[in-house]
Amino acid sequence: MALLDLLKHRKSIRDFLDRPVERVKIMMCLEAARLAPSACNSQPWKFIVVDDKQLKDKLGDAAFRGIYSMNSFCKMAPVMIAVVSERSKFLASIGGMFRGTKYYLIDIGAAVEHFVLQAEDLGLGTCWIGWFNERAVKSVLEIPHRKKIDILIALGYYDREKTRSEHSREPIDKIASFNSY
Ligand SMILES: Cc1cc2nc3c(=O)[nH]c(=O)nc-3n(C[C@H](O)[C@H](O)[C@H](O)COP(=O)(O)O)c2cc1C
Repeated sequence: MALLDLLKHRKSIRDFLDRPVERVKIMMCLEAARLAPSACNSQPWKFIVVDDKQLKDKLGDAAFRGIYSMNSFCKMAPVMIAVVSERSKFLASIGGMFRGTKYYLIDIGAAVEHFVLQAEDLGLGTCWIGWFNERAVKSVLEIPHRKKIDILIALGYYDREKTRSEHSREPIDKIASFNSY
């Protein structure tokens, strides 16, 4: 699919089909993420893929209870990915401190969007998930406490016919200008 068509078709998916996702497709999404750019080529990410049903159910129950229950739809997704934010290279960290910019978050964003777009191209739906019980996710996945998980990805097949493709977005003249602010 042409890139702009793919971008127009991608929507956050919150209703997944009960159908397993092939490992080969997950690997393609990981490869897309791996190719993302990052400050000083730090690649400050690790993707923990959870496709074991029992573990995923445990993760869903832990991550989306209480104040996080608005994201309980994720329990329907056959795959969840925890994206661990790893340390940037020294130069990127120092440069980021100097600039007051968290480069590692920009890097993670680029990698996750690569993942998401590859998934869409393979007919898979995704949803970025920023609202979850991080401590519980670390505990279930045995991720060290000192690590940071800024984002999860819900992944699975979805009903493409049922999904609306229009986006609620600001017009270009509001978000961009040429040659001055
Ligand atoms: C950093 C980030 C965090 C997000 N967290 C959540 C979330 O916790 N739950 C959810 O349902 N959607 C979440 N989303 C999805 C957004 O709500 C969605 O991208 C936005 O409303 C635009 O809709 P679209 O993705 O369908 O175009 C998140 C998206 C991003 C980029």
